[in-house]
Amino acid sequence: MSSEANNKTKVLFVCLGNICRSPMAEAVFAHQVNQRLLNDRFHIDSAGTAGYHAGDKPDSRSAATCKAHGVPVNHRARQVQKEDFSQFDHILCMDNSNLRDLKRMQPRGSKAQVSLFGAYDEQSPGSIIEDPYYGGNEGFEVNYQQVMRCSEGFLKSLGFVSQ
Ligand code: 4NP
Repeated sequence: MSSEANNKTKVLFVCLGNICRSPMAEAVFAHQVNQRLLNDRFHIDSAGTAGYHAGDKPDSRSAATCKAHGVPVNHRARQVQKEDFSQFDHILCMDNSNLRDLKRMQPRGSKAQVSLFGAYDEQSPGSIIEDPYYGGNEGFEVNYQQVMRCSEGFLKSLGFVSQ
């Protein structure tokens, strides 16, 4: 990894399929980072605990929700790899099932801090970002509002936004 990359905080967003919630979280967090002119301080990516959508574009409902809010989305799904736990500083997941799977996968001694993204939701700390896949469009809007709040809370926790 280049020395420039070493100065960055590396953040990986994780859900199950990497087509609904985590690409949305990645896009929203990147958008907030962009708006605050912090691009060069972060490396941001997303992945899924499962690999069955690997290579797919984000779910059209997830992409449409981001687009409706003016947030650009550009991602292809991939599965979490062992190396992610040594390359990323923070792995932020959406629900308790993701958290269990990640803790099971994490190599002992690897640096990544694995936590629920909802821990940073100031309106509802510890909230779960529910799987919207089998529900209606409204679930995606709820996810969007959550990841907006969590992104701001996470930036605050890192000291990039004043409390
Ligand atoms: P995600 O949602 O974990 O937020 O990407 C899902 C996507 C696909 C499936 C389940 C959840 N699936 O069963 O294919």
